Amino acid sequence: MQHYRSLKDHYQFTDEEAQILKELQPRMEKLADEFIDGFYDYIWGFGKTAQFLKNKDIIAYHRKKIKEWFINLFCGQYDMPYFMYLYKIGEIHVKIGLPTHYVNSAFTYVRTFILASIEENFKDKQYHVQEIKAVEKIIDMNLDILTSSYREEELGKFLSLSKIEKNILSGLKNFNSYINYFLAGALALVAFFAIGLFVYDIYLLFFTDIKLEKGILTVLGSLLVLWASIELIHEEIHHLQGKGFAIGAFIMLAMAALIRKILIYSLSAEKGEELLIIAIVIVGLAISYWLVGAKKRTTIN
Ligand code: HEM
Repeated sequence: MQHYRSLKDHYQFTDEEAQILKELQPRMEKLADEFIDGFYDYIWGFGKTAQFLKNKDIIAYHRKKIKEWFINLFCGQYDMPYFMYLYKIGEIHVKIGLPTHYVNSAFTYVRTFILASIEENFKDKQYHVQEIKAVEKIIDMNLDILTSSYREEELGKFLSLSKIEKNILSGLKNFNSYINYFLAGALALVAFFAIGLFVYDIYLLFFTDIKLEKGILTVLGSLLVLWASIELIHEEIHHLQGKGFAIGAFIMLAMAALIRKILIYSLSAEKGEELLIIAIVIVGLAISYWLVGAKKRTTIN
């Protein structure tokens, strides 16, 4: 927080801009009630707002505080206590678990409300542009500090770990990414072999005395395995892009391999018992596949 001066420097916020905001204050004070009504209509639209602003007392308190904060946006004196207070507001929001998205979104209301009201008092273009710049900068600095607590909380979780824990964590992350690349390579190899299997089955079909019926079913089976391994590669790409991993793809590959076996065995009478076992395993896998899918659907909903 000692860096509030560099914050103003980074936003190139000048004393003249502070003065422009100060001049806007009397007008904004008159608009404060209209602002707060609109603000509440806006944040009530988030749907889950009542989970945070739980009762009348909290709402009345928050309304009063927001109104003060709004008028204070135009106080003209942006010093250490001003920014410290903003930081404290951010910390309170973090503590109550308010999603940072709500704060970001509420700022759209703040921004558009203020811009619309200075537009109504447009006098000359040059001054108007300076007003807009000053308003945009103070809003952005506010948002920056209000959300910095969220960023620090994330960072804090990492910083609170001991040196050894951090080393282990980074080591594990590196190891994890190497394994993932290895897995991606291995999957590509599997797909390559699946193509080989397909080509071999075609060869069997045309160049050996294998029965046509059996040959076609074998080719179909190897295509099925190829399709499932492509699906796995697709999932692994998703995983490497940080989108989670679907175990369903693995189950699908196992089912494809077993279905291929069934296709081949179905033509030979002597493998009846083996066929039955495979069929039971396939049913088991299908149930697992359905269960994994059902869990995913409930998580999305
Ligand atoms: C422009 C965005 C916002 C600003 C400037 C703001 C400002 C404040 C201020 C000044 C306080 C009081 C801090 C103190 O006790 O001194 C506060 C607390 C709080 N804010 Fe916000 N707020 C914003 C958005 C929101 C939103 C969108 C929600 C809920 C959906 C929310 C929920 C709360 C709650 C629950 C408290 C704690 C009230 C209590 O002390 O019981 N705030 N906020």
